[in-house]
Amino acid sequence: MQTINPDEYQYIVFFTGAGMSAESGVPTYRGRGGVWSEYRWEECACQEAFDRDPQKVLEFHELRRKAVLECRPHAGHFAIAELGKMHPKVVVVTQNIDGMHQRAGSEDVMELHGSLWRLRCPTHGIIEDVGEKYKSYRCEHCGSWLRPDITWFRDMLDEYNMNQAIIALRKCDLFISIGTSGVVYPAAGFPKIAKEYGAKCIEINPERTEMSFMYDISIRSTAGEALPHLFQK
Ligand code: APR
Repeated sequence: MQTINPDEYQYIVFFTGAGMSAESGVPTYRGRGGVWSEYRWEECACQEAFDRDPQKVLEFHELRRKAVLECRPHAGHFAIAELGKMHPKVVVVTQNIDGMHQRAGSEDVMELHGSLWRLRCPTHGIIEDVGEKYKSYRCEHCGSWLRPDITWFRDMLDEYNMNQAIIALRKCDLFISIGTSGVVYPAAGFPKIAKEYGAKCIEINPERTEMSFMYDISIRSTAGEALPHLFQK
């Protein structure tokens, strides 16, 4: 069993994807049982779909919210959160929109693809909204449709968030990627940046991915199995 002494590193970045939440019961996007094998993203996860039929898109996201609320963070989420409390610098950069890292107690979390728990009014900005059903589909001030604060297909990534993530990747000396297929930008480029700037790069994924060749160590195990035993002083 591979172990890491966290005291040997100054700055640790965890980079997580849908596989991180899989053992909590949140479906991944690709592969068997994945969200995109059941739904077409063209109809529920892009701006064009929202412009065409906002109600349908909001209802799809309510189903996602329901699925996530039925799940809980697992031992791997808690292992990351605990390390964050003991170690001077632990940053979580996540592609997940489910808020599981925060529920487990992680504080320094960058959400690259937004959050299921926020909506956006084009005029009045961000609205926090936690619960299965959205409190309202429309802004209480101006009546505009509220759009999930999520980076959908064909959307640009939030530039500020992306820059913050890249700064973290350049500064870190340990980069641990967990449960991402590495096919969606920017995931594909992240291990490359971390490696170029000198970080040790570890991948936790039960399956080989297109980016596996970039890593110094690949742990072929699940997040919930690997993470609780990874850090040993
Ligand atoms: N532990 C670790 N990894 C796992 C586990 C597990 N228990 N279960 C599955 N995996 C791995 C799979 O082998 C796969 O490589 O997680 C990966 C999940 O890949 P995707 O479903 O493609 O998820 P992700 O990489 O997060 O997708 C990126 O694509 O659809 C968009 O915006 C969406 O954020 C998402 C982005």
